[in-house]
Amino acid sequence: MRRLYGVMLAGVLLGSLPFGEQTVKAENVVADPQNGRTVFDMNCATCHGASGKGDGPTGAYMSPPPADLTSEDVRTDPEPELLSIISNGMPGKGMPAWKSSLSTQEMHDVLAYIRTLSDPGK
Ligand code: HEC
Repeated sequence: MRRLYGVMLAGVLLGSLPFGEQTVKAENVVADPQNGRTVFDMNCATCHGASGKGDGPTGAYMSPPPADLTSEDVRTDPEPELLSIISNGMPGKGMPAWKSSLSTQEMHDVLAYIRTLSDPGK
C-alpha cells in the first residue's frame, strides 16, 4: 500500500495544489463528504444506487451485481483498499477504474460519502 500512496501523492503534487505551503501527503487529504455526494450521484449511483445498496438502474443488468456499499464487508474494508478499488476498478467484474476521471481528492471525497451511507446513525 505504500506504493499506492506514493502514486496518489504524485497525483496530488501534479495537480493544482500550490507547492511549498505544506507537506502534502495523501493521508492528509481532508475528505469532503458533501462534494463526495455530488461525485457519487454523478458517477456511481447508476450502478450502486442512490443509497449505495447496489440497486442502481444500470446495475440491475450486471453480473455480478454492483457491490452493496453499505454492507458490513465494505464498512470494515480498510480505506487504502477501497481507494485502490475505486482508483483501479475491478477488472472482469464491471467496476470501472476512476483514476483517469476523478482526482485523488474526489476519490477521498466519494469514499467519505460512502462511509456516511453505512453509518448506522443515518
Ligand atoms: C458500471 C457500473 C458501476 C459503476 C458506474 C461503479 N461501480 Fe463500483 N462496482 C461495480 C461492480 C460490478 C462491483 C463489483 C461487485 C463484486 O465484486 O461483486 C463494484 C465494486 C465496487 C467496490 C468494492 C466493494 C467491495 O466489495 O469491496 C467499491 C468500493 C465501489 N465499487 C465503489 C464505486 C464508486 C465510488 C463508484 C463511482 C466513482 C463506482 N463504484 C462506480 C459496478 C460499478
